[in-house]
Amino acid sequence: METLLKAEELSVHFSTKRGYVHALDGINLEIGRGETLGIVGETGSGKSTFAKAILGILPPKSRIEGRLQFHETDLTRIDTEYFRRIRGKDIALIFQDPMTRLNPLMRIEDHFVETIKAHESVSGSEARARAVAALTSMRVPESRIRNYPHEFSGGMRQRIMIALALVLKPSLLVADEPTTSLDVIVEAQILEILEDLKRISSMSLVLITHNLGIVAEVCDRVAVLYAGKLAELGSVEDIFARPIHPYTRLLLRSIISLDTKELRSIEGTPPDLVNPPSGCRFHPRCPYAQPVCAEQVPPFVEFRSGQPASCLFGKDFL
Ligand SMILES: Nc1ncnc2c1ncn2[C@@H]1O[C@H](COP(=O)(O)OP(=O)(O)O)[C@@H](O)[C@H]1O
Ligand code: SF4
Ligand SMILES: [Mg+2]
Repeated sequence: METLLKAEELSVHFSTKRGYVHALDGINLEIGRGETLGIVGETGSGKSTFAKAILGILPPKSRIEGRLQFHETDLTRIDTEYFRRIRGKDIALIFQDPMTRLNPLMRIEDHFVETIKAHESVSGSEARARAVAALTSMRVPESRIRNYPHEFSGGMRQRIMIALALVLKPSLLVADEPTTSLDVIVEAQILEILEDLKRISSMSLVLITHNLGIVAEVCDRVAVLYAGKLAELGSVEDIFARPIHPYTRLLLRSIISLDTKELRSIEGTPPDLVNPPSGCRFHPRCPYAQPVCAEQVPPFVEFRSGQPASCLFGKDFL
């Protein structure tokens, strides 16, 4: 598969009063054209930081290291002006809460016209036609295009946000917990539409979610993050049927059923990323930890073809 985005030794550190928060540490990951990659992990594992690094919206007090190759460009090296040009057009983002992004005083139609005109010189009528096409692809009726955001339900607003992200036909869409605030039925509807869209376009999708049920249904591959490091990466089939890393195994065991919204928590708490645990960051919570786990940082290596994991004892879990 052709690679669209490639993270190499990607690290992000946030400067805080307590010291640097090591939010991402040496991430190696590729996203193929047309692929849907799920990113899972507990709160604080670095999922949103990864999304922000791709979109160039990390806060000023952050430091980024490594590479993030998108086409010919290393996204860690470009300036804000360049990012402004590609954001929305080549890489788009959808957030958890659509209300924070929709302007309550603007009609839906005008959101689209504004977005399109910020990147392309088209006539008002063409922009409106494209708005209608994007909205109907998300099954929002054309008749509602002149409504205001508050006149829609939460699920409809999220569909509008996704349509707005799709209207410029980005090659990569990053969705950071897009359905977390919605109820299960609405969530299922939105995911079904996203799956349909994926079938007819070559867009790549990075889907960040707490919900492993969603990953199983929508994604091609899954990246499991733990405390800023990649614990494991693999096809949905391998990760669900043949997980290697102890953290992945515990995550899977923590799902009660595929339609529960939240993960049942794994014993212990995620570590402080100012002073992460030595060796394997998971060792204080790992049921299989040995003394060496506190001393050696596990390399991220393939234990099965296409399924790398960072565990010193990975071969014992095959
Ligand atoms: N702007 C920031 N300043 C300092 N620390 C941050 C900032 N943003 C995120 N962090 C920290 O980075 C880590 C990863 O956060 P985040 O990427 O939001 O995780 P997730 O999306 O998986 O919940 C957490 O420890 C979080 O507290
Ligand atoms: S390296 Fe050790 S502590 Fe880390 S996941 Fe493997 S067994 Fe557990
Ligand atoms: Mg997040």
